[in-house]
Amino acid sequence: MTAINAVTDLTVDADIAVLSLDSPPVNALSAAVRSGIRDGMARALADDAVKAVVLICAGKTFVAGADITEFGKPPAGPSLAEVQAMIEDAPKPVVAAIHGTALGGGLELALVCHYRIATRSAKCGLPEVNLGLLPGAGGTQRLPRIVGPEQALEMVTSGTHVAASAAAEMGLVDLLTDDASLRADAVAFARKVVAEKRPLRKVRESDDKVAAARGKPELFAAFRKANARRFRGFDAPEFNIRCIEAAVELPFEAGLKRERELFTELLNGTQSAAQRYYFFASRQVWNVPDVGADTPALAVRRIGIVGAGTMGGGIAMNFLNAGYPVTIVESSQQALDRGLKTIRANYDNTARKGRLSAADVEARMALLTPTLDLQLLADADLIIEAVFENMEVKQELFGKLDRIAKAGAILATNTSALDVNVIAAASSRPEAVIGLHFFSPANVMKLLEVVRGDKTAKPVIRTAMELARKIGKVAALVGVCPGFVGNRMLAQRQREAQKLVLDGALPWDVDRVLYDFGFPMGPFAMSDLAGLDLGWVREKSSGSTLREVLCEMDRRGQKAGAGYYDYDEQRNAKPSPVVEQVIRDFAAKQGRNSRVVSEQEILDRCIYPMINEGAKILQEGKAIRASDIDVIWVNGYGWPVYRGGPMIYADTIGLDKVLAAMRRYEALYGADFAPAPLLEELAAQGRRFADL
Ligand code: 3HC
Ligand code: NAI
Repeated sequence: MTAINAVTDLTVDADIAVLSLDSPPVNALSAAVRSGIRDGMARALADDAVKAVVLICAGKTFVAGADITEFGKPPAGPSLAEVQAMIEDAPKPVVAAIHGTALGGGLELALVCHYRIATRSAKCGLPEVNLGLLPGAGGTQRLPRIVGPEQALEMVTSGTHVAASAAAEMGLVDLLTDDASLRADAVAFARKVVAEKRPLRKVRESDDKVAAARGKPELFAAFRKANARRFRGFDAPEFNIRCIEAAVELPFEAGLKRERELFTELLNGTQSAAQRYYFFASRQVWNVPDVGADTPALAVRRIGIVGAGTMGGGIAMNFLNAGYPVTIVESSQQALDRGLKTIRANYDNTARKGRLSAADVEARMALLTPTLDLQLLADADLIIEAVFENMEVKQELFGKLDRIAKAGAILATNTSALDVNVIAAASSRPEAVIGLHFFSPANVMKLLEVVRGDKTAKPVIRTAMELARKIGKVAALVGVCPGFVGNRMLAQRQREAQKLVLDGALPWDVDRVLYDFGFPMGPFAMSDLAGLDLGWVREKSSGSTLREVLCEMDRRGQKAGAGYYDYDEQRNAKPSPVVEQVIRDFAAKQGRNSRVVSEQEILDRCIYPMINEGAKILQEGKAIRASDIDVIWVNGYGWPVYRGGPMIYADTIGLDKVLAAMRRYEALYGADFAPAPLLEELAAQGRRFADL
């Protein structure tokens, strides 16, 4: 074995050279890796004894892509294109031996090899779109030449990782093998290619698949139309489509040039910067500085849940899906039956859509033990409370759980607004208490705010974070404060949205501005969906807010066919002239003059106070880092990922500009816009939230 450089080795096995890359964690194509391939290839090609080359990786995966940390930095080492040309134009066959994931630049590297062999567990994909990019190393030109434009369109715009068996069916992979024998099988395969004098196959020279689609623009038009909703707001999907069009319509070299131009445009744009930022933010969020790998994790095997309402049922499903036995406790048989019925209906629904087999539904339901007896939670390792949002009820329950739960059990609350420290104090073991703030619907929403109480023990935190990963959530550790991080910031937007309509903007104006910004829906459409009567009681209603007035008129939201909007039978929303009049009357009664509110003002007033609240949260240490807040907003509230999240969005605009806007609105509308000291400080220093 000869070391080519720190990350590349060359071994010559009689007539076959094996070029092996070892650059943890994912063998990304850094300058060192590219140099290693170039120099290793040069040596293998110069050795007359070598008849073919196998390109293989050490560690958990084949090359998982370009090194994202190098984007935007001055170029170093050989370019990927240079290395690729060396392989593709080599006079000896080169075989890629794939395990783990061949992604992005990694798959593009494999695509210039003359043959590809992969383990059955391997996956291939071009996920650049998720970074706001497109495959910039020939992927958009070579992929459709193998799999055809239809499959290529789907792969590059979704970024899906395709299983090796499917890749083999599509022709992306020539041979499937096992993990243990990959290297030996690849060497044997290369030897066979040499012995049989098989051609040096170059994907770039295939034309039949793309020729079949040539002169058929309707293919692309139909794809754009069918996916318009999915792609809304994003630049990258459209750019990817244009590249596949180029692959079909242009000669290879011209297509490659087009790909390069479009790649560069995306790379220099704000969307890709935001999406690449988010890629790292969504990995960073799992790191808790003072709860490291040296903190022991607790064993969690059995789950207890108290309350089988909206949240309890959804939370239970998360654990059932991951194979945990769950005991769910209710206070009445009726509530228990209702809760169980909902869980089953949810599963049946998924099965009906073909996403779960009937056997899986039964297996999951069989893991669930429904009961009215709290005592059955005595052997649970984690108990999550999802009872009414009432401090006395929760305190009483924690007192009981304290007496029932075994030593070492974690006691969690799903409260959305109550003080976790006060709840913890109701038990004699506050160190075992933590907040697990799931979002509704809990079986669907990715976000989990893990709430650290003043006394929560570190192993409890570590265990909660690990468990969150196991059940497929994105977890962010937050501190105790009203609304925690997400809802605390949301409250700012809700308040301004309500004030905006009293100033003269209509609910659909506010919703449209936020929808166009990239949210899935605006605050008023959201209220209609959730129901305006959440927490509303007719007897206590005094028409003191717009929401109360609408509830009193039985305009309780979508379910009532009317809320801020009017709804038809298909639940399509239409602006309501009735609501418009109600708002005018209500505003007049409050002595407010209606005026024209600009779209810019709507956006500023909805977004800037949220960012300002984020600054306060950071200053108080209720979030570990600004990027955690961004992860919370992308996963819990539909913040468009191509804008990164509220905090990086503010950084992108410039904190001086955000501050100036806050001051301007403070002068007009008062204390709701008082700038956070941290915002003032950072703006004065020319720093960003990301610098903290
Ligand atoms: N560049 C740099 N670092 C990368 C990387 C990449 N392409 N891919 C992963 N990493 C880093 C992660 O940031 C993480 O670092 P950390 O440990 O310091 O947090 C570490 O590698 C491990 O990553 P994950 O936590 O994501 O590990 P998993 O095992 O869960 O997943 C993976 C592995 C599926 C490979 C996943 O990391 C992944 O999807 N990576 C990105 C793949 C990708 O997008 N490739 C395309 C890149 S762009 C490109 O190739 C452009 C080209 O067309 C020119
Ligand atoms: P819910 O009213 O739908 O369900 C609560 C259930 O708890 C009811 O079925 C009730 O019978 C049961 N219950 C009450 N006291 C009990 C006791 N002592 N023992 C056993 N069962 C008892 O309420 P929901 O919406 O599920 O909320 C539960 C908790 O989750 C609340 O703390 C809420 O703030 C929080 N939450 C709610 C969200 C939502 O969108 N609904 C989102 C995030 C958190």
